[in-house]
Amino acid sequence: MELSAARITQEQHRLADRERFRRVMGHFASGVTIITTRNAGVDYGLTASAVSSLSLDPPMLLICVNKTAHTRGAIARSQVFAVNILRENQSELARHFASSRLDKFDGLSISYGALGAPLLGDMLATLECRVTAEVPGATHSVFLAEVHSAQASEGMPLTYFRGRMGRFAFMSADSGTSLWREMQWEDVA
Ligand SMILES: Cc1cc2nc3c(=O)[nH]c(=O)nc-3n(C[C@H](O)[C@H](O)[C@H](O)COP(=O)(O)O)c2cc1C
Repeated sequence: MELSAARITQEQHRLADRERFRRVMGHFASGVTIITTRNAGVDYGLTASAVSSLSLDPPMLLICVNKTAHTRGAIARSQVFAVNILRENQSELARHFASSRLDKFDGLSISYGALGAPLLGDMLATLECRVTAEVPGATHSVFLAEVHSAQASEGMPLTYFRGRMGRFAFMSADSGTSLWREMQWEDVA
């Protein structure tokens, strides 16, 4: 009896720690992307914030995808995906791709990259990648990938902070002007 009470307390602590971790990590603001892939003639996609640059030489990035997501299996099979970085006015699209429905691409304007991944129209930036490794990370798969091509355009990003979507603001009002001039966008490869 005592042992099972101890087990319950342990479990409560574990849940509390998990919840605290989730809330604390929510303070790390990120952008919002839609990861897309195509397998056996079907387009897959999910909203993801767990995206990180990994290496410059060669250009690599990583994404963390829940093992239960339809998109994870599709990426594992196709070995290709695109990272579509959302604009500040695209929170509705982010919510749309944060569901497991199978008709997420219906009515959307898409094209296909050189590797065959679906590229969503009117994105802030798009990168098409080829998977080099799938690393297990508990509930998630970490896909390491080489960036095959990358494009970006002028605009501001959708952001994600403490479980909510919002806008990014520069520290000073004029700093954005020179930023656009510095950016010359072209394919990485
Ligand atoms: C802002 C936001 C960020 C998210 N980030 C991730 C993520 O990085 N990795 C992940 O696996 N799921 C993430 N999700 C949840 C997936 O979008 C969601 O589970 C989706 O329904 C999976 O779709 P699928 O089963 O069709 O692949 C996020 C959701 C939101 C709203």
